[in-house]
Amino acid sequence: MPQAHEKLSCFLTPLFVAVSLAICSVVGDVSEQFVYSGGFASANLTLGGAAAVTPAGLLELTNGTLRQKAHAIHPAPFRFRNASTAARSFSASFVFGILCPDDDNCGHGIILFVAPGGYDFSTAFPSQYIGFVNSTSNGAAANHIFGVELDTDQNNEFRDIDGNHVGIDVDGLTSVASASAGYFHDGVFENLTLSSRKAMQVWLDYDGAGKQITVAMAPAGMARPVKPLLSSAYDLSTVLTDTAYVGFSSATGSFNSRHYVLGWSFAMDGPAPAIDIAQLPKLPRFGPKRRPNLGKIIPPVATAAFILAVGAVAVLLVRRRLRYREVREDWEVEFGPHRFSYKDLFRATNGFKDRNLLGVGGFGRVYKGVLPASKLEVAVKKVSHDSQQGMKEFVAEVVSIGRLQHRNLAQLLGYCRRKGELVLIYEYMPNGSLDKHLYSDEKPVLDWEKRFRVIKGIASGLLYLHEEWEKVIIHRDIKASNVLLDGEMNGRLGDFGLATMYDRGANAQTTHVVGTIGYLAPELGRTNKATPLTDVFAFGIFMLEVTCGQRPITQNSRGEQHMLADWVLDRWRKGSLTEAVDAKLHEYDVDEASLALKLGLLCSHPLSNSRPDMRQVVRYLNGDAPLPELTPTNETFQILALMQNEGFDSYVMPHPSPMESVNTMSSLASEK
Ligand SMILES: Nc1ncnc2c1ncn2[C@@H]1O[C@H](COP(=O)(O)OP(=O)(O)OP(=O)(O)O)[C@@H](O)[C@H]1O
Ligand SMILES: *[C@@H]1O[C@H](CO)[C@@H](O)[C@H](O)[C@H]1NC(C)=O
Ligand SMILES: *[C@@H]1O[C@H](CO)[C@@H](O)[C@H](O)[C@H]1NC(C)=O
Ligand SMILES: *[C@@H]1O[C@H](CO)[C@@H](O)[C@H](O)[C@H]1NC(C)=O
Ligand SMILES: *[C@@H]1O[C@H](CO)[C@@H](O)[C@H](O)[C@H]1NC(C)=O
Ligand SMILES: *[C@@H]1O[C@H](CO)[C@@H](O)[C@H](O)[C@H]1NC(C)=O
Repeated sequence: MPQAHEKLSCFLTPLFVAVSLAICSVVGDVSEQFVYSGGFASANLTLGGAAAVTPAGLLELTNGTLRQKAHAIHPAPFRFRNASTAARSFSASFVFGILCPDDDNCGHGIILFVAPGGYDFSTAFPSQYIGFVNSTSNGAAANHIFGVELDTDQNNEFRDIDGNHVGIDVDGLTSVASASAGYFHDGVFENLTLSSRKAMQVWLDYDGAGKQITVAMAPAGMARPVKPLLSSAYDLSTVLTDTAYVGFSSATGSFNSRHYVLGWSFAMDGPAPAIDIAQLPKLPRFGPKRRPNLGKIIPPVATAAFILAVGAVAVLLVRRRLRYREVREDWEVEFGPHRFSYKDLFRATNGFKDRNLLGVGGFGRVYKGVLPASKLEVAVKKVSHDSQQGMKEFVAEVVSIGRLQHRNLAQLLGYCRRKGELVLIYEYMPNGSLDKHLYSDEKPVLDWEKRFRVIKGIASGLLYLHEEWEKVIIHRDIKASNVLLDGEMNGRLGDFGLATMYDRGANAQTTHVVGTIGYLAPELGRTNKATPLTDVFAFGIFMLEVTCGQRPITQNSRGEQHMLADWVLDRWRKGSLTEAVDAKLHEYDVDEASLALKLGLLCSHPLSNSRPDMRQVVRYLNGDAPLPELTPTNETFQILALMQNEGFDSYVMPHPSPMESVNTMSSLASEK
């Protein structure tokens, strides 16, 4: 029952005199109590920010717009204390409801406050400041504000205990006491979720004599719990001004939360008038109420999303076109099956990521890939080429090489062309290149049996290139790093990017010397002419390399170059040929190893006509023919010794640097 005090007068609705369905208005400047149970339609609250009274009479503090703040203040002030005495007792009660998209996306809360008349809410911030203070005014004693916060968000700057709590605030948002939302029922704590879209009631009492603040809450309709949720000894005498206003502040942040007050009552020096729950306006139902608003929000959001999506797709398409752009010409049609799409290669190698890098050679980088459709493992070699010249012939050659099939060749599967770039696709060799097995400490020592099998395999692969194909193919770059090992540790000759072809019997007029230092036959320095016998020379060096486990050329500490072939010959002259065998090999077949060393020396003979051809080499290696009787002192090697003594080593030293040989990529065709 509302009672008139001092200059307060109440106009009671005639039908419900007995109940508190009262609309009180203030006559004069100080009132003692009020109660709003039947809605706020004629409450004459002072509203600020987003606050509004809905047609149904609800006090709607926020309407779902982001980063809003709201204030609703009872128009008349209350006298909280005399200048010299303690703050008076007062009580307040209200029913509220918070509607959020969901509990985790909710912000920020409601504060019932007592504030001095001059308090400037316009400088308060929304979001976690709940329209109450701002970042600089928070906690300032000059504020003279007091409040009870219902906070649906946890803010560490205010030492919030959780994202669903009730707090007693003095001059700021760092609560002097707080507790998770809930209530005690028969001594047992029951959870409440502030943002549960259910109406809840709060009771606040300040005992001026006992200097005690208590807060209780319960679901709307339930009696006030006997045991309060919060009880804090606090003297508000220095906080509150003589006269002050009561009201609500609220704010949203990045979520479209709605904060409502359904009913409210207040009294000085006594319990707040009871709120008649039955008379309260109803909270909007979350579903249907929101739909029209969603209808307003969705079109612009959808339009923006659509424009963004279209833009993103356009950017992706352009990027994709650039990323996967290839060079394709009419003449390539006939090579169709060997042409790979750059997109597939890009995908296969995870975008040519370093993670997929197998190695870097003189001509470019080699990546491991898995072809999307066939799941076939491949090695993708990117070779840069700056000239279009001879490309057709080169591609024809690549395709022709792709038709080569031998168990000791690393199969070339196809190619792809881009601007300034040629991409070659080879069968993937899981055990990598032979040089790594010979020189890397990380790999186990390759035993002699495997080494000899690799030597024999490469010999038979080379024989196939030289003699068993419709054209003579000169590999031109035989070396340990171009010998790859498949899953069964079979040697496979790789790197056909450099191989060139010339018709059997025809003269190859080469303009550039291709190959690698240490493996170049001396006559290449004079003639620039690659022949099957220059391959035999390189193969001889390769055999010595594999058997001795040493690189063809090494440098000692004084910078002197040291040729592996000379060193082996020297051992042989001293009658201890097997000393040349790799020291890491504790067990090996002495006959096979000496055969490899002698044959290696014979193949790498400086005079090309002293070298055997690959057919003979294969026969010697297979034991089908005995190696000619050789001694390090017979005339075959006399000349070698002579050349060494006279400084003919320079013949073995190549002229071109590996980089120079890059040019050869585009001049291959002219080398036919
Ligand atoms: N088919 C393959 N399977 C597995 N790894 C490969 C394959 N082809 C090449 N590699 C790896 O990539 C590395 C580089 O190969 P690449 O043939 O480009 O260079 P190289 O033989 O060292 O030098 P060059 O280009 O002068 O012949 C090799 O050492 C090898 O480890
Ligand atoms: C509402 O309050 C304003 C001042 O805030 C006052 O001027 C006006 O007369 C009040 N109206 C009623 C109906 O009380
Ligand atoms: C919410 O309130 C703000 C401020 O009063 C207003 O601009 C906006 O249109 C309102 N939005 C809705 C959906 O009512
Ligand atoms: C001071 O407050 C008391 C009640 O707390 C009241 O009786 C007294 O009249 C007040 N004095 C003034 C000057 O307002
Ligand atoms: C915070 O509020 C105070 C008091 O209204 C004001 O003086 C100050 O400028 C505000 N600070 C900011 C950062 O807005
Ligand atoms: C309170 O709510 C939390 C999470 O919703 C739940 O884990 C807990 O069991 C609840 N406690 C009580 C007492 O209901």
